[in-house]
Parts: sequence; structure tokens; C-alpha cells
Amino acid sequence: MLEIKNLNTGYDKKQVLFEVNIIAEKNKITAIIGPNGSGKSTLLKAVCGAIPSWAGEINFNGSKLNGNEPPENLKLGISFCPQGNRVFDELSVKENLEIGGYILKKKKARERIEEVLEIFPVLKERLKQDAGTLSGGEQQMLAVACALIPKPKLLLLDEPSLGLAPNLVKDIFEKFVELNKKLGIAILIVEQKVNDVLKISDRVYSLKLGRVVFDGVSTELMGNKEKLKEIFL
Ligand SMILES: Nc1ncnc2c1ncn2[C@@H]1O[C@H](COP(=O)(O)OP(=O)(O)OP(=O)(O)O)[C@@H](O)[C@H]1O
Ligand SMILES: [Mg+2]
Repeated sequence: MLEIKNLNTGYDKKQVLFEVNIIAEKNKITAIIGPNGSGKSTLLKAVCGAIPSWAGEINFNGSKLNGNEPPENLKLGISFCPQGNRVFDELSVKENLEIGGYILKKKKARERIEEVLEIFPVLKERLKQDAGTLSGGEQQMLAVACALIPKPKLLLLDEPSLGLAPNLVKDIFEKFVELNKKLGIAILIVEQKVNDVLKISDRVYSLKLGRVVFDGVSTELMGNKEKLKEIFL
């Protein structure tokens, strides 16, 4: 589905990613872990097209993404849920969902909102409420719901558990498994909550100073304190 080959990129003259190789497969959850500043968010930004790649290739279902802007990638089926501030506080839940469907025709967007609300019933009861007055967990659900409106094939999630209490992390992670296993949406997820993300992911990559330093099946790292220490030191 998604194949990143020898990706190099960064900001202005500052290189952040070096020769990064990552594969995210259909029906699988692929996790990216690593210390702060290691380039995890930069990687997702490059995949969605928010920043250009300097060298290497990003291929998605046979299309080369290099040089694409986010709306083009969205049309190909790549949806990005960025780190932090994810919803428009002053707009209602419904208006946020409508913005999520901005690339769709009005009728299609309405249909998709109905479908997505079936996945997140908690939002259905709060359509008129301002998004800023939702709880942290509900806001997170709304952010993911917005990203799902265009019916993506690949969902990019940047630290979706940020600021959530452990039980809410569990809830939202269960939703990701459902999206992945039931609806077949491939997921590339960046997470600091390593133990939690290892439980739901199939494969894991670790970045350190912009390079992949570990790549394997998630069960290999689960409970492997030595290896995890090595990755995060
Ligand atoms: N817009 C930007 N302009 C310049 N440098 C940036 C920009 N965004 C990020 N960086 C730098 O790129 C490096 C990687 O940042 P990135 O946000 O990808 O890290 P991260 O692994 O997501 O970290 P965290 O776990 O803290 O979210 C950091 O050194 C950061 O300062
Ligand atoms: Mg980040």
C-alpha cells in the first residue's frame, strides 16, 4: 500500500530524515515510535504532502506521491490527523465534520457524515455542540472522525493519545483496531505511549535522529525492556 524508499527531507536547510525506509500494509497497523524530535511528525507530514521530500520515493498503491500537495493525496486516499489542536473549537461538531468532507460533493459528504457517525455514536448526540466544549477524548474522536469523512484507504495518526486518560486511550485505540480490521483502513500511527501502541500494532519502526534504528513485528518489542531502552536512549 504505502512504500517509503530512502526518504530524505527536512525544513529549509535543516535535514531531519535520512534514508528512511518504511512500509505500511493494507489491513495492518504500523507504528512509529522514537524519542522527541526524532522526526516522527516530519515523516507523516512528508507522506501527506504538507512538506516536500528532498530525495527518495513515496509510493502509494502504484502512484508516486513526490511533489503532491495534501488535497491531491487526500483524493488518492491518504488522510492525516495531525499532532495537537485538531478540531475547530468555535465550530460545532457537525461543522467540523463538514470541513472534513471538503473535497467531496455536498450529497456525498452528507452520506459519509452519517456513516462515520455510526462508528462514533458519542458524536451523534453532540452534533450541535461547539467542538471546544467536548471532552479531550471526544475531541480526539471528532478529529479522527473528520479524517474518515473522505473514506481514506490510509489513515495517518500523529499521537492520537496525547493528553488522554488511560481508559480513553484504550477506547480510542480499540476504535483504530476496528477501523483497521473491520473496514480495512491501513493505519500509520505515531505514538509516545509505546506499550499501548505495541499491543494494537502489527509492525513497528523506531526513529532516532531521523534514521530508522529498529524495524520488526510489534510482539518482538513488547516487554523487551533492554531493546526499548536502547531505542529511547
Ligand atoms: N516547521 C519546522 N521548521 C523547522 N524545524 C522543524 C519544524 N518542525 C520540526 N522541526 C524540527 O525537526 C526535528 C524533528 O521534529 P518532529 O516534529 O518531526 O519530531 P517528533 O519525532 O515528531 O517529536 P515529538 O515526539 O516531540 O512530537 C526537530 O528537531 C524539530 O525541531
Ligand atoms: Mg511529533
